[in-house]
Amino acid sequence: MTHSSLSAEYESGLPRLVTDPRSFAEPEQIHKALAWARSQDPVRKVEAPGFDPFWLITRHADILEIERQADIFRNEDRSTVLVPSDMREAIEAKQGSPHLTRSVVNMDGSEHRTYRMLTQAWFVAGSLRKLEGRIREIARQAVDRMLARDGACDFVDDVALHYPLHVIMEILGVPEKDEGMMLALTQQLFGARDPEKSRDAGAMADPATALTVFDSVLRDFYAYFDQLTELRRQVPQDDVASVIANATINGQPISKHEANSYYVLVATAGHDTTSASTAGGIWSLAEAPDQLRAVKSDPSLIPSLVEEAIRWTTPVKHFMRTAVSDYVIGGKRIEAGDWVMLSYMSANRDEAVFDDPDHFRIDRSPNRQLSFGYGPHVCLGQHLARLEMRILFEELLPRIRSIELAGPPKWTQSNFISGPKKLPIRFKPA
Ligand code: HEM
Repeated sequence: MTHSSLSAEYESGLPRLVTDPRSFAEPEQIHKALAWARSQDPVRKVEAPGFDPFWLITRHADILEIERQADIFRNEDRSTVLVPSDMREAIEAKQGSPHLTRSVVNMDGSEHRTYRMLTQAWFVAGSLRKLEGRIREIARQAVDRMLARDGACDFVDDVALHYPLHVIMEILGVPEKDEGMMLALTQQLFGARDPEKSRDAGAMADPATALTVFDSVLRDFYAYFDQLTELRRQVPQDDVASVIANATINGQPISKHEANSYYVLVATAGHDTTSASTAGGIWSLAEAPDQLRAVKSDPSLIPSLVEEAIRWTTPVKHFMRTAVSDYVIGGKRIEAGDWVMLSYMSANRDEAVFDDPDHFRIDRSPNRQLSFGYGPHVCLGQHLARLEMRILFEELLPRIRSIELAGPPKWTQSNFISGPKKLPIRFKPA
């Protein structure tokens, strides 16, 4: 195919590729189209059927610039996640707001800072050091379970999903018996458009019924967390649920909807993403036995392996912002009211920042991956995610000699949070 016909193909294919959840199950195609956008039209207006127009920001530097200007590019005014126009209308009509929940993700300025501060102390590196011993125990149990599988397992189902889930649920204060339900609800929320994960994928085609699906998942979460709030108000414990249940702002308790939104955010953002990048790391090592050997013989490479697994997988594909005033970037004028997509997936393959960006390299240094975002909304759980992954690799790698793929892996169909959902592997114990 000639260069110009490839260009035409990417140009016409891009709007569908970056909006259709199904295309994220085959990320290589999207990566090619995003590379084309970075080189030809890095701040690009996308008009995809069924979606409000938005600006697609593909370069690392431009995303940093926008995230730094949080007073201009805001989170509250419109959805922070790409939703189809009919769905946007249905949410606005039902909620009287562009958002289904009211969490830190949908707030700006001093309100955002105040709500974020409520739980932040739990997630700073210093506090997490105290949890390291317990996290290591949970990691060891996960590795024991994997090794008991006799040389073959699905790494996602058998290891990657349960380990970060268990860690965040302990921090939150959800007992182990309820973790399965939390996992199912998270997958139904983030994988609502994936037929293998959705509570009712058929209903997602119509905005009114799609909203009912999201609503029923959130109602189940809220019913659970209402009870947890009652318990933690009666007898506070040393956990994040007790912080949320008893949180006050200016002397007033936060509303029930805000408390529930906070629980749902921590209970969902806190594991699916980490599972995805852990599985992404193992997938890559299974395909690169030399890199597996290198990190096994030099465990000081584990932190850079973790960073590269997070870059490579980029579990959160995008967040949206809305401009409140005109702003010129990349030679384009974004106007007040415009919707903007920050493509972390693209930033993490930007050839201006990463040498050889399409190769997984466990010794990549520096690694300025943008998977956790940047600026005031930068991921609250980034230190926890890194710690969990480092500990899991420290426990797992000495206990295996080799890993290989035992069948084709599969990605989740989602344009928001997507990672490996099936990863069949064979391994030899050390
Ligand atoms: C926000 C990614 C793990 C909690 C975010 C954002 C991204 C992200 C891209 C938005 C950043 C922005 O708008 O600039 C990830 C990835 C993870 C991960 C890739 C794992 C590899 C976690 C964990 C937690 C967590 C373990 C547990 C608490 C949050 C919260 C926010 C957030 C509460 C909202 C912060 C705010 O709006 O102020 N994350 N995350 N995340 N993340 Fe994570």
